[in-house]
Amino acid sequence: MAARLAARNMGLRLVQVLLVAVAAGAPVAHAWRKEGHYMVCKIAESFLTIEASAAVTSLLPGWAGGELAATWSWADDERRRYPWSGALHFADTPGDCQFFYDRDCHNTKGEKDMCVVGGINNYTAALMNSSAPLVDLTISLMFLAHFVGDIHQPLHCGNTVDFGGNTIIVRWYNTTTTNLHRLWDLDIVGGILQPGGVKHPSNPS
Ligand SMILES: *[C@@H]1O[C@H](CO)[C@@H](O)[C@H](O)[C@H]1NC(C)=O
Ligand SMILES: *[C@@H]1O[C@H](CO)[C@@H](O)[C@H](O)[C@H]1NC(C)=O
Ligand SMILES: *[C@@H]1O[C@H](CO)[C@@H](O)[C@H](O)[C@H]1NC(C)=O
Repeated sequence: MAARLAARNMGLRLVQVLLVAVAAGAPVAHAWRKEGHYMVCKIAESFLTIEASAAVTSLLPGWAGGELAATWSWADDERRRYPWSGALHFADTPGDCQFFYDRDCHNTKGEKDMCVVGGINNYTAALMNSSAPLVDLTISLMFLAHFVGDIHQPLHCGNTVDFGGNTIIVRWYNTTTTNLHRLWDLDIVGGILQPGGVKHPSNPS
């Protein structure tokens, strides 16, 4: 079917456009906040061909209103239903600034491929499977869009020893005590987007 063929292309294109160097990640991950995922989806959508865009639209659930970005939180919301998927939101390395798939791409139980790189591979391949049921393609699309968003949060590719910055306590502009991972998830993007920009001692309003 045309939609499925286009969906295959879309899967690859989305990854080609957005897959920056994937390195390591954060086990105790907070969710990269809405705006991060939303922007990544929006940028990806703007690069889709007309054909791929139509395929994406045809795979989206009704509640998304035809907008890929509207599905940004689905993969986070479904973690309870798919507990195994938690490990797919990030990739950790031992802190040597190198990512070796065979060494690093596994969950805490040591199961291979269970990291964000494995997840992106898995759901890209799934989108290219023309005999997969549509419902599976829809799920694959929403996972893929989310995981590509996750890797744009630098601490979803961090160090194992500090759980992707979760154990590094920092103070954000002399106000909130937080951790480095959370700072990236929430405070930086949230601060930029609030009226008046980032709260800063020299710009307290
Ligand atoms: C691949 O997708 C299937 C179906 O959702 C899932 O059961 C499996 O855990 C996934 N594996 C990875 C590495 O993403
Ligand atoms: C494609 O999807 C079908 C139906 O779900 C499945 O049986 C088959 O194993 C899949 N092929 C690949 C290469 O994943
Ligand atoms: C930082 O916070 C402390 C305590 O709230 C305050 O006394 C101090 O003036 C602040 N420093 C700056 C540079 O705003």
